[in-house]
Amino acid sequence: MSNGNPYQDDRGNKDRSITNPAGQGSQMPRSKSGKVTAAPGGPFLIGEAMTGGYGKGPDILHDCTIAVDRGEIAVIVGPNGAGKSTAMKAVFGMLDVRSGRVLLDGEDITALTPQDRVVKGMGFVPQTSNIFTSMTVEENLEMGAFIRSDDFRDTMAQVYDLFPILKEKRYQAAGELSGGQRQQVAVGRALMTKPKVLMLDEPTAGVSPIVMDELFDRIIEVARTGIPILMVEQNARQALEIADKGYVLVQGRNAFTDTGKALMADPEVRKSFLGG
Ligand SMILES: Nc1ncnc2c1ncn2[C@@H]1O[C@H](COP(=O)(O)OP(=O)(O)O)[C@@H](O)[C@H]1O
Ligand SMILES: [Mg+2]
Repeated sequence: MSNGNPYQDDRGNKDRSITNPAGQGSQMPRSKSGKVTAAPGGPFLIGEAMTGGYGKGPDILHDCTIAVDRGEIAVIVGPNGAGKSTAMKAVFGMLDVRSGRVLLDGEDITALTPQDRVVKGMGFVPQTSNIFTSMTVEENLEMGAFIRSDDFRDTMAQVYDLFPILKEKRYQAAGELSGGQRQQVAVGRALMTKPKVLMLDEPTAGVSPIVMDELFDRIIEVARTGIPILMVEQNARQALEIADKGYVLVQGRNAFTDTGKALMADPEVRKSFLGG
């Protein structure tokens, strides 16, 4: 990528819009080949060699590394209980890692609270309880902007451009929406902070294949605006198709790491994790 580090002056995505009408990355085109290009100074966000578990319980993660580069989509796949959500929580600061560290744009943020990580530019959509069901769609988006003291109406308009159905239903309780629409609320809420990086845990859980494709398209659109995306997906095949980088986790460990394309082509990965 050509000198294109939008974060080098620490301005983040401040002056670029979430939605890009041209449908193309203006400054940070994602490589179509799925090639992982090493960014200067390492990945934008990395949970590196993380070991740890819940409270005083056994370790769930063992030397586990997940990361996302600038301008890219990274996807984490693996069997149920592999520790995918745990790894995401560890990167977001919801888990005390016994060893390993988390770096955001080169800065060690291992000791920061989740709240402080949001202030630093991390957006996280957890796997469950990711919206306020009794609040309206618009109230959910407003809640997303809680850390901002500036005018967030532009961002809300951008979220509504990205997810037009949410504008239509903005005065409806979020709990009345369909599964796919709720996930749009959750992603929209995370975008309200104008994150520099977005973490999504199973954004397509429980939706139909058509809605899944639609959500993936929107996620690609967000990535094209220059927000790197680190995402857990149970729809491994479809997710790896759009992934610049893929991580297969098994029992809290990195089993395979490669470009999405290479993982899809790997006979062992196919047999064990992609249904042949
Ligand atoms: N809050 C929790 N407290 C204790 N153990 C948990 C908690 N959440 C998950 N686990 C355990 O951590 C392991 C990994 O779970 P998880 O990260 O949710 O897997 P995945 O997201 O890959 O399905 C499982 O054995 C699960 O039982
Ligand atoms: Mg999970």
